[in-house]
Amino acid sequence: MSDPIAPQLSIHGAEMPALGYGTMLFPEPERAVELILHALQSGYRHIDTARKYGSEQWVGEAMRASGLPREDVWVTTKVTEENARADDFAHSVDTSLEALGLDHVDLLLIHWPQPNVPLEETLGALAKAKRDGLARHIGVSNFTIPLLDEAMTKCPEPLITNQIEYHAYIRQDRLIAACRKYDLLVTCHAPLARGAMLNDPVIVDIAATHNKTPAQIALRWLVQQSNVAIVPRALQISEIEENIGIFDFVLRDGEMTSINALQDNNLRVINPEVRRPVWDEA
Ligand SMILES: NC(=O)c1ccc[n+]([C@@H]2O[C@H](COP(=O)([O-])OP(=O)(O)OC[C@H]3O[C@@H](n4cnc5c(N)ncnc54)[C@H](OP(=O)(O)O)[C@@H]3O)[C@@H](O)[C@H]2O)c1
Repeated sequence: MSDPIAPQLSIHGAEMPALGYGTMLFPEPERAVELILHALQSGYRHIDTARKYGSEQWVGEAMRASGLPREDVWVTTKVTEENARADDFAHSVDTSLEALGLDHVDLLLIHWPQPNVPLEETLGALAKAKRDGLARHIGVSNFTIPLLDEAMTKCPEPLITNQIEYHAYIRQDRLIAACRKYDLLVTCHAPLARGAMLNDPVIVDIAATHNKTPAQIALRWLVQQSNVAIVPRALQISEIEENIGIFDFVLRDGEMTSINALQDNNLRVINPEVRRPVWDEA
């Protein structure tokens, strides 16, 4: 078992590891526990799951198999927009905890905004889960600037993060500035844009300079930004190990700037028609 490797990001009393292992979509479900366990054994101490992913049970199994003390592993789960009504929300949280085999999670997120339910009601249910001890911290995901503005005035408990799509191929400057204004961590989902930037010559060249892989450069560019966490998914053991090897080198200012320019690709890979809000302009 490796020691934890990622630094922790501190906000509102939370200490969230800057690197988590994403658990959406396991094409071979029979390997899920082995892969999550391998992440824990490699030094990951943060697992990102969701009711919608169907992976909570495997996360719980892997945590138990790891033998790690509960308090050493940060677990995030999420409630889908289909369960935005208060009663449905509470039921979803109970079901998540049962699947995980835990009595609380470290972070509970509203997975997607739900325009047909007053945000105040969903935020109330989120805050109640925290007050009832079912979640140590709470946050939102896929919230735009207007939604954040509303959430920050209406949520009865402090939010600690907005989990959003952010990687080297999408510009999110305005949304990230709003997160900073509200003292929220930015947690990046799809931090590799599902691999879209891995053959980019700018990233490939920088990788060669540092003797790192393109994926490590793309992930390093994210975690080198202030209060930014990442939750890449990897289905190969070698990739799981590669993605944690990003804390032993630093990108130079010029390299950060070169990668910044790639954001003009404005590629959004997570954009489900049924769930997406009106995204912020770049
Ligand atoms: N809140 C939300 O709405 C939301 C939405 C999407 C995702 N998420 C979270 O974010 C996590 C990650 O997102 P994602 O899976 O969509 O995208 P991602 O992490 O950007 O990309 C995953 C893809 O990158 C490849 N990859 C990973 N490490 C690599 C490496 N070192 N070298 C080369 N290729 C590598 C993987 O290939 P292999 O498949 O071959 O391993 C996989 O296909 C999810 O698992 C989930 O936990 C949240």
